[in-house]
Amino acid sequence: MSLQGAVGAEELIFYVNGRKVVEKNADPEQMLLFYLRKRLRLTGTKYGCGGGGCGACTVMISTYEPASKKIRHYSANACLLPICSLYGMAVTTVEGVGSTRTRIHPVQERLAKCHGSQCGFCTPGMVMSIYTLLRNHPEPNSEQMTAALAGNLCRCTGYRPILDACKTFCKDSVCCQSKANGRCCLDQEEDLFDREEKESVGLFSPDEFQPLDPTQEFIFPPELMRMAENQPKRTLVFHGERIMWISPVSLDELQDLKAAHPDAPLVVGNTGVGPDMKFRGVFHPIVIAPARIPDLNVVECMSDGLTIGAACSLSLMKDVLRNAVSELPEEKTKIFCAVLQQLRTLGGEQIRNVASLGGNIISRKSTSDLNPILAAGNCMLNLASQGGKRWIPLSDIFADGVGNNTIMPEEVLVSVRIPHSRKGEYISAFRQAPRRENALPIISAGMRVLFEEGTDKIKDLSIFYGGAASTTICAKQTCQTLIGRYWNEQMLDEASRLILNEIVLPDSAWDGKAEYKKTLIVSLFYKFFLEVLQSLKTMDPCHYPGIPMEYESILEDFQTKMPQSIQIYQNVELSQSPQDPVGRPIMHQSGIKHATGEAVYIDDIPSVDGELFLAVVTSSRAHAKIVSVDTSEALKEPGVFDVITANDVPATNEFHYSDDPEIIFARNKVICVGQIVCAVAADSYAHAKQAAAKVRIEYEALEPVILTIEDAIKHNSFFEPKRKLEHGNVDKAFETVDHILEGEIHIGGQEHFYMETQSVLAIPKGEDKEMDVYVSTQHPAFIQEMVAASLGVPANRIMCHVKRVGGAFGGKLLKAGLLASVASVAANKTNRAVRLILSRGDDMLITGGRHPFVGKYKVGFMKDGRIRTVDAKYYINGGCTPDESVLVAEVCLLKMDNAYKIPNLRCWAYACKTNLPSNTAFRGFGFPQSGLVTETWITEVAEKTGLSPEKVREINMYKEDEQTHFKQKLDPQNLIRCWNECMEKSAYYSRKTAIEEFNKQNYWKKKGIAIVPMKFPFGLGSRYLSQAAALVHIYTDGSVLLTHGGIELGQGIHTKMIQVASRELNIPMSYIHFCETSTTTVPNACASVGSAGTDVNGMAVKDACQTLLKRLQPIINKNPKGNWKDWIKEAFEQSVSLSATGYFRGYDANMDWEKGEGQPFTYFLYGTACSEVEINCLTGDHKNLRTDIVMDIGCSINPAVDIGQIEGAFVQGIGLYTMEELKYSPEGVLCTRGPDQYKIPAVCDIPEQFNVSLLSSSQNPYAIYSSKGLGEAGLFLGCSVFFALRDAITCVRNERGLKKTFALNSPLTAEQIRAACIDDFTKMVIGR
Ligand SMILES: Cc1cc2nc3c(=O)[nH]c(=O)nc-3n(C[C@H](O)[C@H](O)[C@H](O)COP(=O)(O)OP(=O)(O)OC[C@H]3O[C@@H](n4cnc5c(N)ncnc54)[C@H](O)[C@@H]3O)c2cc1C
Ligand code: FES
Ligand code: FES
Repeated sequence: MSLQGAVGAEELIFYVNGRKVVEKNADPEQMLLFYLRKRLRLTGTKYGCGGGGCGACTVMISTYEPASKKIRHYSANACLLPICSLYGMAVTTVEGVGSTRTRIHPVQERLAKCHGSQCGFCTPGMVMSIYTLLRNHPEPNSEQMTAALAGNLCRCTGYRPILDACKTFCKDSVCCQSKANGRCCLDQEEDLFDREEKESVGLFSPDEFQPLDPTQEFIFPPELMRMAENQPKRTLVFHGERIMWISPVSLDELQDLKAAHPDAPLVVGNTGVGPDMKFRGVFHPIVIAPARIPDLNVVECMSDGLTIGAACSLSLMKDVLRNAVSELPEEKTKIFCAVLQQLRTLGGEQIRNVASLGGNIISRKSTSDLNPILAAGNCMLNLASQGGKRWIPLSDIFADGVGNNTIMPEEVLVSVRIPHSRKGEYISAFRQAPRRENALPIISAGMRVLFEEGTDKIKDLSIFYGGAASTTICAKQTCQTLIGRYWNEQMLDEASRLILNEIVLPDSAWDGKAEYKKTLIVSLFYKFFLEVLQSLKTMDPCHYPGIPMEYESILEDFQTKMPQSIQIYQNVELSQSPQDPVGRPIMHQSGIKHATGEAVYIDDIPSVDGELFLAVVTSSRAHAKIVSVDTSEALKEPGVFDVITANDVPATNEFHYSDDPEIIFARNKVICVGQIVCAVAADSYAHAKQAAAKVRIEYEALEPVILTIEDAIKHNSFFEPKRKLEHGNVDKAFETVDHILEGEIHIGGQEHFYMETQSVLAIPKGEDKEMDVYVSTQHPAFIQEMVAASLGVPANRIMCHVKRVGGAFGGKLLKAGLLASVASVAANKTNRAVRLILSRGDDMLITGGRHPFVGKYKVGFMKDGRIRTVDAKYYINGGCTPDESVLVAEVCLLKMDNAYKIPNLRCWAYACKTNLPSNTAFRGFGFPQSGLVTETWITEVAEKTGLSPEKVREINMYKEDEQTHFKQKLDPQNLIRCWNECMEKSAYYSRKTAIEEFNKQNYWKKKGIAIVPMKFPFGLGSRYLSQAAALVHIYTDGSVLLTHGGIELGQGIHTKMIQVASRELNIPMSYIHFCETSTTTVPNACASVGSAGTDVNGMAVKDACQTLLKRLQPIINKNPKGNWKDWIKEAFEQSVSLSATGYFRGYDANMDWEKGEGQPFTYFLYGTACSEVEINCLTGDHKNLRTDIVMDIGCSINPAVDIGQIEGAFVQGIGLYTMEELKYSPEGVLCTRGPDQYKIPAVCDIPEQFNVSLLSSSQNPYAIYSSKGLGEAGLFLGCSVFFALRDAITCVRNERGLKKTFALNSPLTAEQIRAACIDDFTKMVIGR
């Protein structure tokens, strides 16, 4: 069929939330996400990554199949769904599920009431994943529930409360089901509850929940049913600005189209083509959508196998295979089972629901999980073209080793035949990924062996790997050589060597994992070897002994289980008024709005007339002179309005907060890859982005290019001042100690990965140079200051507004200021409203994160474990501008002692100046790094002395009223209480014994346990940084409008402030409203950082409320029986002011760096975490089994919010210490720029048992209502997992007689774990 045949623009018809949408100008480039958000103004569906990796954009798609009369509902990522693919379908978004205007759906209600939202940005996506599951399975089991959430990321909560909400829908018991040691979680819960009468364990009341009523849901639109039934299917053609979309309905038509346009891709799920076009600059003027062609959707069960259409989704394939497995004899379904094994963890459910089998195969991506197993399983491809049909073995398409073979461009894949397995045939699939679920594999494999009948003599063998080269590859020669061999150790040895010889990996892989991949390649073959041995035994136990008992556990992969958890907190006093909300687990003030998608973030603000979108152009060089910037081509692009450069900044382009400036636009030179050089303003984001790609920048290389800490040391490149703390007599102490150890640890950086990317909307007001700046920031006053300075206007012309922020974690301070300045300069120049929403990739590239770190230490200690002296040097990679790097370095020093009294101590901290994007504040601010160094040498002292790590910790822990290394007083009573309680609650010693027993009985799997104490000093270093103000208005109807300087980042500050105001004014929380934080209501507010928001703003709110109450008191006294409204009315009539400000001067703090002494902190938080893990020694994979945390946070104002903060921070800590890996190219380009390459923890990563207790009876005289600021502290406790992993590795190494001391860096990824568990396979690889 020629293009001329496909004339005329079609009307695209689909439904959204029960309403018909007719789009006359459907653009194939337009994805559903942007259509919903920008066209239909349904902003509940969020942008988190644009590439299918985060689930923030999840919607439900419903289709109707007239032949079977079946309606299918499935979740999908709107960011990858072209609207043109939706013809005749119904879309349900979070707004369609329920809203405060109509009815809140039980999913929304329970997520909110179970405290499942913090910043709320991921919440609509979570709602949609759960809702879709419930539409298909109103009573799901917990396995279905965890699977449904595998494709949804949350950076705030740590998932526990989300899963709690999910459990309320599950039909299986919420108990852990395990009666290990004769008890289960529920028994334990009772025990703990009995112990302390004043303690409470519930954070929500399920009795409040509405029941789930499936009859209340939208029905599938009858009109679409009629359309599907009555209208014959016809070819659809949609013309966009640059692309044409053709959707044929017959195979013949498809073949004609492919003959006419051999280069046009076939788009089914768009999960391959979409990311290529969005992120890799691939462009296709024509795309063909074959999903409606019946031949490509067949599912046929034949006598010798299954035929599955190429356009079938991977979810459908999963169902088909599962059915076949349940119906056919086991012997025939081994290939099906192996494919199912891969499908379980391939992508998330949203991806599997749309991604097609054909797309996965034909993309021939190296990372395909399916191709290795389908190839090994002798699957056949049915190809068609005008020239006819043919069947080829799937393995043929990889025969040339690069995947270019065999299929002609004009050929299409119609279907795939998966054969039944035969007697004597064994087949398995394997994968190892950076995260167990929703992550592309590092290595995937498919292996099959066929034995001569009744023997273990190899008749046929296939081994295929993914991830090793540019496409799936086959160890063909190895397989041929081994034919005729018996399945025994000699064969294994030969096979391993042959495989390593044959599979040659490019050493220069960007991820630098060549050695790990090689190790996996042989280790996975070994696993196959064991599996087959065991299967042989099952078949014929007399002839085949199988594998040793202690090897058996390796045959089972780690599975994700629904986590169990307990949260314990102190009840409020019985005497507390029931109306007083302080101390109670109150739901987040925006919880329901998060869950209904009504909560407004920056990009949800409706567009302003004439608004422009901004796309930034960033440097591609780490250090270079800018020779020229040519914008001429960009300016010719459609929709482009202007290009903004440094020359357009009316006043300040460079901010000198210290010696080196922070820069808005690079002017003459660039100092890192990702530095903003200019920005294109256009009428849409797509236009701005396309034009930005046309800006040409010429560079001239500058030397040196400094990327690493080692480079910086070599070039003496540091930000000043360098800091040092010294205490006692270090050198002398070294002379008297029994032992000295020296070591070094490298800790990688961390990306904030707030779910809402950096966002700004700048609106010039048209007079007096006033500008409204809406920005996602932690520090509006600073934004106001920077924008005013860049525009050269007084601060009183810049009104900065923040309603809420979709996560920040320290990343939305200075960087947000620079981006707000970029947008404001553009708004000023164009005199238009300007919206700047960074794409995930740009955000990760530009904004920096936690500082990569190197710690070097020398420790002197006695035989009995007492540490006498420490000499340490810390280097942090500050990146190209100072930001807060020197402060971070200072905090590293001040908090490095963690929980230990070190009598003689000298430590230095250096902030390295490099050509990486500038690093910045991140939850914990230096402590997570220097604390890890300390715990590392503590552990090494234990190894050296033969004591257990917990003994060395106890011996050296602060014990009585003491002084820190900078002479601040400290009372460690609660540190010790947390430690003891955690020991007890975690049953540490009995579990340690059980673990030792497990480890004796298991060779390839080992468990480890660690308990780590924490002292977390609270304070911002100086009084002025902790001042705060609030403004409270009471209106004549009695309603109260509250505002203060704190920013809602997800930490529930507004909820807590309303609790404070409610207590102080003695009115219900429902009378009090919080609208936004703004520089117009509270000027000069300090940043919401350092866990201090509640402490300081709480004091200010209390002050304002007390002022008001004082004014009202005479009126109340006169009419004590009156109510609030009466008093307010009376006050107004008596001309009593009903508006008051409140103020808190801040905490006194000081630090004299010359003397190395001071009181920089206000008080201390304490905590202890005990974590248990299990590792797979063959792959390096691990599972977090259990964590118990005991935290002293004083008297909690809101235990639900506070426990959420602890858990969320802890899980971020797990990410930092065990998973999140930033990779840079040798040229300084960040390679990990999205959730597909950078893995933050997902549901599968949280401990299977996750218990948090708040220490009871803890008082804190310094903060509001005796609470403690706790946002950051829990992150460090994530290192208990790091040390539990180390414990497991130590056990492996001891058993194998390996060297006692060994170094482990952070993150302790599967790659490192595997490398540390040295065995014959690692030796084989290293020895090559
Ligand atoms: C977030 C994310 C996570 C993922 N995780 C995994 C994972 O863990 N493991 C894994 O294996 N994969 C993973 N994938 C890849 C995914 O499985 C594939 O992209 C998907 O299967 C491709 O199918 P599609 O229908 O979306 O292809 P499309 O994008 O629609 O097409 C892909 C390519 O296949 C060609 N094609 C499609 N159908 C045919 C046909 N019938 N005949 C000829 N050519 C055809 C097209 O021309 C195009 O070149 C992931 C993808 C994403 C986005
Ligand atoms: S925005 Fe669609 S998956 Fe992230
Ligand atoms: S609440 Fe999940 S990302 Fe913030």
